Amino acid sequence: MNAPTIPAGTDLLAEIDRLRKERNAVILAHYYQKPEIQDLADFVGDSLDLSKKAADTDADVIAFCGVRFMAETAKILSPEKVVVLPDMDAGCSLEDSCPPDQFAKFRAEHPDHIALTYINCSIGVKALSDIIVTSSSAEKILSQIPADQKIIFGPDKHLGGYLARKTGRDMLLWPGVCIVHEAFSETELLKLKAKHPQAPVAAHPECPAYILDHADYVGSTSGILKFAEEMDGNTLIVATEPHIIHQMNKAKPDVDFIGAPGADGNCNCNICPYMALNTLEKLYVALRDLEPRIEIAEDVRLKAKTSLDRMLAMASGTVGMGDLGPVRVTGD
Ligand code: 13P
Ligand code: SF4
Repeated sequence: MNAPTIPAGTDLLAEIDRLRKERNAVILAHYYQKPEIQDLADFVGDSLDLSKKAADTDADVIAFCGVRFMAETAKILSPEKVVVLPDMDAGCSLEDSCPPDQFAKFRAEHPDHIALTYINCSIGVKALSDIIVTSSSAEKILSQIPADQKIIFGPDKHLGGYLARKTGRDMLLWPGVCIVHEAFSETELLKLKAKHPQAPVAAHPECPAYILDHADYVGSTSGILKFAEEMDGNTLIVATEPHIIHQMNKAKPDVDFIGAPGADGNCNCNICPYMALNTLEKLYVALRDLEPRIEIAEDVRLKAKTSLDRMLAMASGTVGMGDLGPVRVTGD
């Protein structure tokens, strides 16, 4: 298929604005998007906040500037809306690590475990899961699950390991990783800390334990941003995808935010290649043509929605697990 053409001289920002109004569209963006996309979005947030916005919006079209599993989540929660993703190839290494057929087999091998699953997974895996979590909601949701309930946690072994260490819960971990957070180097981080001995380190729980061990704060993208906004010092080392620093610079222009380095000593290898696929040009085309569009079979959507609805209910803290009805314990 030929790439859609954009007439020469198109004022992308003006056209995106015009189309957003004409289509009654809302533009949602994750903190890992390029600054120019964050700046024109109607809302920028972490995975949980973006899911809530997608569930609540009264727009007719959601233009999702993030990765595919996030846009799919928007469509699962708002099936009557048109959901477009500027580049359909915007995947995620965690999703790739966990094919639904292998996950189904793993579940079937552990019939007495429930599946608590990170939102960074395919719709097929969501449909096979009992409760979805994001990095900002995982601890709160875990605390509502009875202590004697056995748990499978996938697909991020680092987030699962962090939660297990923090809460003392013994969980069976799926061995997936985020290639972006996996690329941070402990040696280079220690060299950077030696240069900036007063600077705290804020890290995302997708980082390996050898990075989290050096962190003063561990949390989701929105948690890290809040930590940056509230800290007193003048330097912060940020161990997550470096595009989040755009929001930090806006909130605290006098603070020096330094991206934690990879093995080559800089932070460029920690740019998410999937998030980077979205561009202003592709966003314009998505709003103009209402393509590429997320389409989901209704039976899978309904199964995936059950586990996402549990997440939204448990993350809001208004219900306990007992109020949510039986979770699936057979993996069927
Ligand atoms: P959060 O924004 O929920 O912290 O997730 C980070 C992430 O990896 C998105 O892909
Ligand atoms: Fe997936 Fe990692 Fe990119 Fe997030 S940063 S979308 S977890 S590959």
